[in-house]
Amino acid sequence: MSHADEQDGTRRDFLYFATAGAGAVAAGAAIWPLINQMNPSADVQALASILVDVSDVQPGTQITVKWLGKPVFIRRRTEDEIAAAREVPLTDLIDRNARNANLAAAAAAEDANRALDDAGEWLVMMGVCTHLGCVPIGDGAGDFGGWFCPCHGSHYDTAGRIRRGPAPENLHVPVAAFIDDVTIKLG
Ligand code: FES
Repeated sequence: MSHADEQDGTRRDFLYFATAGAGAVAAGAAIWPLINQMNPSADVQALASILVDVSDVQPGTQITVKWLGKPVFIRRRTEDEIAAAREVPLTDLIDRNARNANLAAAAAAEDANRALDDAGEWLVMMGVCTHLGCVPIGDGAGDFGGWFCPCHGSHYDTAGRIRRGPAPENLHVPVAAFIDDVTIKLG
């Protein structure tokens, strides 16, 4: 076999495998929506809840995890942040509803109804501005030391409650719970 033949053979092999590979991907893409439609409950179950290890989250810091395609802020608040949130009278709030999916729909927006634990150290919220859905900036941003949405200037306090700007509602608290000392289950 000449050198040219070898090169030719190699090239043919490459083209063959590349074509076969492309075909396999196309078939897979066509089949996937079918499986998805036939088995929606399995798909929903896979996404409906996630476990988050918060053992590395220090006071005064937060992590953002993606859940159901959206960001979720998990903040471990300092004593000062908790105290600041707890001293705000309900009458100062724009939205006096807790917006907490773990509580009754009418629960008031006092800090204890926003935090995940009794001590108020953990705050879990959807990272979605209630104005038009931008992702607010955290770590003490804004005029109230909590979160700030620069899109149109919405300020949230250290409990994620809207205090100034066009957002109509507090950041929503999703279904969440500690399942052990260091693991939060979302959903
Ligand atoms: S989307 Fe946040 S202020 Fe408009």
